[in-house]
Amino acid sequence: EEQAYKKLDEKLKSLLATLPKDKGWRSANIYLHEGFWLSPQVIKGLLMINNYFHAQSTDIFLAAFMKCGTTWLKALMFATTNRHRYSFSDHPLRRNGPQSAFPFLDTHIFLDYPITKFEHLPSPRMFATHFAHSLLPTSMSSPTSTCKFVYVCRDPKDALISKWHFMSKLRSKELPPLSFNEAYELFCNGVSEYGPFWDHVLGYWKASQESPEKILFLKYEDMKKETSVELKKLAAFMGMPFSAEEEKRGVVAEIVKLCSFENLSNLEVNNEGGGAQKFTAQVAVENRDFFRKGKVGDWKNYLTEEMRERIDSITETKFKNSGLTL
Ligand code: A3P
Repeated sequence: EEQAYKKLDEKLKSLLATLPKDKGWRSANIYLHEGFWLSPQVIKGLLMINNYFHAQSTDIFLAAFMKCGTTWLKALMFATTNRHRYSFSDHPLRRNGPQSAFPFLDTHIFLDYPITKFEHLPSPRMFATHFAHSLLPTSMSSPTSTCKFVYVCRDPKDALISKWHFMSKLRSKELPPLSFNEAYELFCNGVSEYGPFWDHVLGYWKASQESPEKILFLKYEDMKKETSVELKKLAAFMGMPFSAEEEKRGVVAEIVKLCSFENLSNLEVNNEGGGAQKFTAQVAVENRDFFRKGKVGDWKNYLTEEMRERIDSITETKFKNSGLTL
């Protein structure tokens, strides 16, 4: 087995040597692999997932482009699937924060050297991923697979602002800071970890149009506007709809409150000294860095009219005839 993993490292090395590369937001370089810009670490994760990850028929994947609402959805999915197990006043989310609710597949697969096995997780297993739909192994995404996906997307302008802040915090101190103007330019050209943003969204959108029972497509903005409506959709999609009696008892409202930005971002575990999540042996992210403003439209504080227009016209062109608007 050890031998097989070593081979995979060699394969990664020779693969990287053949791929186009450009500037990374967190690390020096990202690579264009099958249409998407990825860091070397997550290309390794992808190779491992393709070789060793065995999806189970009841798995539920939370998929999103970076900074579109993974933390929020993680909390909501965990609280919803476990609502009969925990009381809301003494809930594990209050002690541990949402990041630890379930694994981030892309790098967790090799967090326990040489490989993490996920067999022990209770069913339905849940995983988060940022990988584009077309990159996923067939056991997860083929027409015969019964795995479910919850996809959350967001206005690209807000995703850009959020990502620039987040990646600037994580950026290697040996590299010069990435200026906002440069990040903007790269983003518009599709060059950022897991990008292009628009291709990512479209891939899941099209798949959700073809198989709505397998892919639930959500928008951050809708969730902000009517959280309980979207939460009820989510629960029904996961096969655990809220009963009328639960609604009457206020279970939906409790989950909305527990998972709100205001509640989560004020917890000790999500503040200074609250702990960190390990993504790879080298990269840990502090819990608090997953919470910034939690608002719709913060881009207005950053983009000029000209910059807004350019992103909106890219969105319009890319999404033309898809039926999707953001
Ligand atoms: P901002 O940087 O715009 O504030 P992800 O979880 O995918 O990494 O996305 C992070 C973004 O979601 C950040 O956006 C963060 O503040 C926001 N966020 C985190 N938890 C949230 C919650 N419970 N409700 C709403 N937004 C949340």
